[in-house]
Amino acid sequence: MKFKDSKYVEKMSEITNELYKHGWDERNGGNVSLRLTQDEVDQFDDLDKTLRNIPIKFDATPLAGQYFLVTGTGRYFKNVHNYPERDTGLVRITDEGNSVDLLWGFNDGGEPTSEFPSHLMTHINRQKVDSNQRVVMHCHPTNLVALSFTHELDEGSVSRLLWKMQAESLVVFPEGIGIIPYMTPGTNEIGQATADKMNEFRVVMWPHHGIFACGDSMDEVYGLIETVEKACMIYTAIKSQGGDILQSITDDDLRDLAKSFNVTPNPNFLSMQPINN
Ligand code: 13P
Ligand code: ZN
Repeated sequence: MKFKDSKYVEKMSEITNELYKHGWDERNGGNVSLRLTQDEVDQFDDLDKTLRNIPIKFDATPLAGQYFLVTGTGRYFKNVHNYPERDTGLVRITDEGNSVDLLWGFNDGGEPTSEFPSHLMTHINRQKVDSNQRVVMHCHPTNLVALSFTHELDEGSVSRLLWKMQAESLVVFPEGIGIIPYMTPGTNEIGQATADKMNEFRVVMWPHHGIFACGDSMDEVYGLIETVEKACMIYTAIKSQGGDILQSITDDDLRDLAKSFNVTPNPNFLSMQPINN
């Protein structure tokens, strides 16, 4: 079977198209990486030779030998589903960790996303807490970016706000969301800051820019971003309706949700012991 016809390329095409249609990836905004296992790669008969070697500017040795299907730098998400072999590539991290071998894709000379440092550093850290870690996704959700201008950039305060915007939030991201300061995109520094947050969170806000999220499958990570952005969209709608909140989900309601859905809220943001009883 040819890799081009695989479910991995199909899923990457579908998700990048969904991200584009949501308006979260204008122009070349956003990037996605998906880890494949050796067994998965071995199923294909057109992945046995290195097409090119591409240097990377940080040490990815902990991922040596791992395979990633990744979107290319400068590629427009509105196009990926029509040109997956041009706009995405399958790479293997070399043993030295300072370059990748291209096995498929980027057939016009392209290279992995400029946010590869944040992706790979996140994969490194998340694999330590979750052996099923597979996906890192970055996009520019409108309402989350807007909120980063109008709300204080405090992880507890933003997490509690988003938990209270809809019953779904606490269940989907009980650990809350991490926030880094505004930093220059595409650098090793933003990669390290993002990956550090990923020790505790699966979602990290990049103020005035977008979101980074990770997890075990494309659908799970996409769903995580959808849920966070929906909560931010409700916040936008509340503000545009005048902003006066007459009733809301309470801390007790959050505790009941946590018990009902068997999730553990981040104890720094919500105590499971009510203060008054
Ligand atoms: P790339 O085109 O290099 O993936 O960059 C897009 C982006 O969103 C940068 O933060
Ligand atoms: Zn971006």
